[in-house]
Amino acid sequence: MGKSIAIDGPAGAGKSTIAKMVAKELGFIYVDTGAMYRAMALYLIRRGIDADDTAGIEKACEDADISISYENDTQVILLGGENVNAFLRTEEVGNMASVSSTNGKVRKKLVALQQKLADEKDVVMDGRDIGTVVLPNSRCKIYLTASSAVRAKRRYDELTEKGLREDLARIEEDIIKRDQRDMTRSNSPLRQAEDAVLIDSSDMTIDEVKDAILTIAKEKL
Ligand code: DC
Repeated sequence: MGKSIAIDGPAGAGKSTIAKMVAKELGFIYVDTGAMYRAMALYLIRRGIDADDTAGIEKACEDADISISYENDTQVILLGGENVNAFLRTEEVGNMASVSSTNGKVRKKLVALQQKLADEKDVVMDGRDIGTVVLPNSRCKIYLTASSAVRAKRRYDELTEKGLREDLARIEEDIIKRDQRDMTRSNSPLRQAEDAVLIDSSDMTIDEVKDAILTIAKEKL
């Protein structure tokens, strides 16, 4: 078992940005578990499986060949050996992932892959159930959150920077809906582990959050 930092929290709290920075600083590997759920969703979409076809999802997910490699410190998700990183961040894939990640069979398969990675390497792993289910024995757990208004604004700025125009109110509505789905699902819902440290990043800069996590990691690991 390697050392681990488990970071959970709702969509848009800044988990991946900060987890990457913390991993770099400590020389750990960054594991983006959301990308694994997205790769599974991409596989299901490519197979033409419908989001409400539970039996189809359960059957297909067994055949999905998802693995991970690293190129210049960047996580590369391989689907049947193909680098699919470029296809994972679309709304279509995100929405399918939000539904298919509620499936127990999908979760079982990806959790096993995540646990194997943490067995072999020192990791900073982010997701929704890392501190509660994937790495319950991790000595350093963080629950990173921010208000839905702040998370929506960050997403809005990100899209604007890419030249995309979206409605801020609609983005916030989507975020609230996704939170609701992630927190109320029966299978591994998003929640703060009892031994996780809560960080609310609403009024913090990225560097402040990174430093707070590094301080906690130094203390706990
Ligand atoms: O963090 P993200 O948006 O890339 O995650 C995509 C979806 O996968 C999201 O709906 C939540 C789900 N997910 C999950 O259920 N468990 C994880 N450990 C990570 C992500």
